[in-house]
Amino acid sequence: MGNGIAHVCARAGCEVVLYDLEQGFLDRGLATIEKNLAREVAKNKLTQQQADEARGRITPTVDREALARCGVAIEAATERFAVKAEIFRELDRILPGDAILATNTSSISITKLATQTKRPEQVIGMHFFNPVPVMQLVEVIRGLQTSQATFDAVHALSKQLGKTPVEVNDAAGFVSNRVLMPLINEAVYAVMEGVATAEAVDQVFVLGMAHPMGPLTLADFIGLDVCVDIMRVLADGLGSPKYNPCPLLVRMVDAGWLGRKSGRGFYRYPLQ
Ligand code: CAA
Repeated sequence: MGNGIAHVCARAGCEVVLYDLEQGFLDRGLATIEKNLAREVAKNKLTQQQADEARGRITPTVDREALARCGVAIEAATERFAVKAEIFRELDRILPGDAILATNTSSISITKLATQTKRPEQVIGMHFFNPVPVMQLVEVIRGLQTSQATFDAVHALSKQLGKTPVEVNDAAGFVSNRVLMPLINEAVYAVMEGVATAEAVDQVFVLGMAHPMGPLTLADFIGLDVCVDIMRVLADGLGSPKYNPCPLLVRMVDAGWLGRKSGRGFYRYPLQ
């Protein structure tokens, strides 16, 4: 989601330092940003000049130390606590003392991540939704120690990005994934138990409930590995077996069927 977040920040006039581990990941992210800016120009949402200026505000780097000039960091790494914890320790070391450290986590505790830093009052959740340039919502999540000043700054930044911030408390999965992931998981159970095909489950939600995509198409879009990771965070954090990931979902991830990004999930996708 990092490319989408960089896209909306640059589009809103912010200077963006886009950091990733490898040049190849950066090249892929920048190609996606350029494709999506071009899509917005084609739809007359941006002029070519605005798109060029937005692209010009993004500086890609594989050098972490380049983040030293940032006033806000928005981390969007893999949904694993250990990975995010290491990044937060590094951000705390590198960024100026008054900088805000935000995480785009979809389920991990903000309060716990904040303990990895010496500035827990400046740590906050800023949860975006895919496709980031299109979806209106940012869930803004306070950790137990997040200050009012940090909350106000991130609330205002979300609005500057053209989003609608919604305040949510720090509990596993927040609101979005606390409700969405069990829905997806139950849809997988319906397929596993032979209640209906994946296509039929999706049709029920598209035609019966006016969802823009059915839950299994959405699971492929999010990534089946991400769905399993989030279900495990819910199971750990909320302590109920009802949040255990469906065995079929786990088997598909074990097989490398991760959804759209791997070319196969509940459906098949051409790899670009
Ligand atoms: N960048 C910029 N614009 C994009 C875009 C992108 N990546 N993808 C689509 N768009 C734009 C299109 O240009 C189009 O704009 P107009 O309305 O101005 O024409 C609009 O979005 C709709 O796109 P399409 O017509 O191509 O396709 P669609 O109507 O099928 O919509 C969709 C695509 C927006 C993805 C829609 O299917 C949808 O809303 N799906 C549900 C998405 C959703 O639930 N996201 C949340 C996932 S959960 C998550 O992200 C967080 C988590 O923690 C797991």
